[in-house]
Amino acid sequence: MSETEPQAESTARSSATTTGETDERIREEWSDYSFTGEAKLSVSDLDVYYGDDHALKDVSMDIPEESVTALIGPSGCGKSTFLRCLNRMNDRIKAASIDGSVKLDDEEIYQDGVDLVELRKSVGMVFQAPNPFPKSIRDNITYGPRKHGDLDTGLLARLTGRDDSETADELVHRALEQAAIWDEIKDRLDDNAMGLSGGQQQRLCIARCLAVDPDVILMDEPASALDPVATSKIEDLIEDLAEDYTVVVVTHNMQQAARISDQTAVFLTGGKLVEYDDTDKIFENPESQRVEDYVTGKFG
Ligand SMILES: Nc1ncnc2c1ncn2[C@@H]1O[C@H](COP(=O)(O)OP(=O)(O)OP(=O)(O)O)[C@@H](O)[C@H]1O
Ligand SMILES: [Mg+2]
Repeated sequence: MSETEPQAESTARSSATTTGETDERIREEWSDYSFTGEAKLSVSDLDVYYGDDHALKDVSMDIPEESVTALIGPSGCGKSTFLRCLNRMNDRIKAASIDGSVKLDDEEIYQDGVDLVELRKSVGMVFQAPNPFPKSIRDNITYGPRKHGDLDTGLLARLTGRDDSETADELVHRALEQAAIWDEIKDRLDDNAMGLSGGQQQRLCIARCLAVDPDVILMDEPASALDPVATSKIEDLIEDLAEDYTVVVVTHNMQQAARISDQTAVFLTGGKLVEYDDTDKIFENPESQRVEDYVTGKFG
C-alpha cells in the first residue's frame, strides 16, 4: 500500500492547490453520494471502537431504498462492523462501543427505548455461512413469525382454537417463492433443513429473513461459501429482492459487486469510508487512486 499512498496524496495535493481544499475535505466529497429517491438508512459520524481499537472512523453515508448497496474493501477494514451497526448487532459484542447516528426512515435507532427485536425484524441479516436451525424447512420459516406472536400453530394453538396453520402454509410458500427455492424443495417441507445443499440452505436463510417482513436485508458475504452455480442463484435473487427491499451486501468479489449493486461504498484500511458512488463510477472511474488500485486488484 505504501506504493499507492504517494499517488493518492499527490491527487489530493494537486486538487488542494486549485480548490484550496484539504485531503480530508475532498475525501468527504468522494463519499457524499447524491441520489434520487429516499434514503432508507442514514448514517452520520459513526465511530466504532473495540476496546482501544478504532475500527470504524467517522463514517457517514445514506443508503437509498429499494436498491442494492455493496460494501467492499480489504479484510479488516470494518465492513462487517459497519453492517452490524445497521441493526445494532454490535450491541451484543461486549468490547464494542458505538458513537454516532443511524436513522432508519428518519428514526434514530441508537436512542433509548428502541425495541431491538422490532428493529431486527425490520432490518434482517443473512450471514456468510448458512445457518439454518436444525429443524424442518417449514419450522425454519415459521419460527420468526411465531416468536413475534404473528402465528399460532402447534398443539397449544389447536387446543385453544387459535391455530393459524393455513396462514403458516401461505407464509412458507410465499417466503420460499420469494427466495427462489420453492420449486426445488416444495415436496420436502417437513424434512430437516440441515439436509439441504449449502446453496439451498443459504436461500432458506434468506427466506427465513423474508418471513418476518423486513424492510432492509443485510448480507455479509452471502455467497462466499458457495459454488458458482449457487452463487449465481443468490446474485439473481439479490437483484430481484431490490425491487421491494433495501439490500446492503458485503462482498470480496469485485465482479459480484459490479454485477449486482446499484451503488458501492469502498472502505479502506483504517476503518474509513473512502469513496461511495454509483457502482459504474466506482469501477470505471473512481476519484481516489487508492480505490482504483483496489478495484483493479493492485492491492488488497
Ligand atoms: N468482536 C470483535 N472484537 C474485537 N475486535 C473486533 C471484533 N470484530 C471485529 N474486530 C476488529 O475490527 C476491525 C474490523 O473488523 P471487521 O470484521 O468489521 O472487518 P471486515 O472488513 O468485515 O473484514 P473481513 O473482510 O475479513 O470480514 C478489525 O481490526 C477486527 O479485528
Ligand atoms: Mg467481515
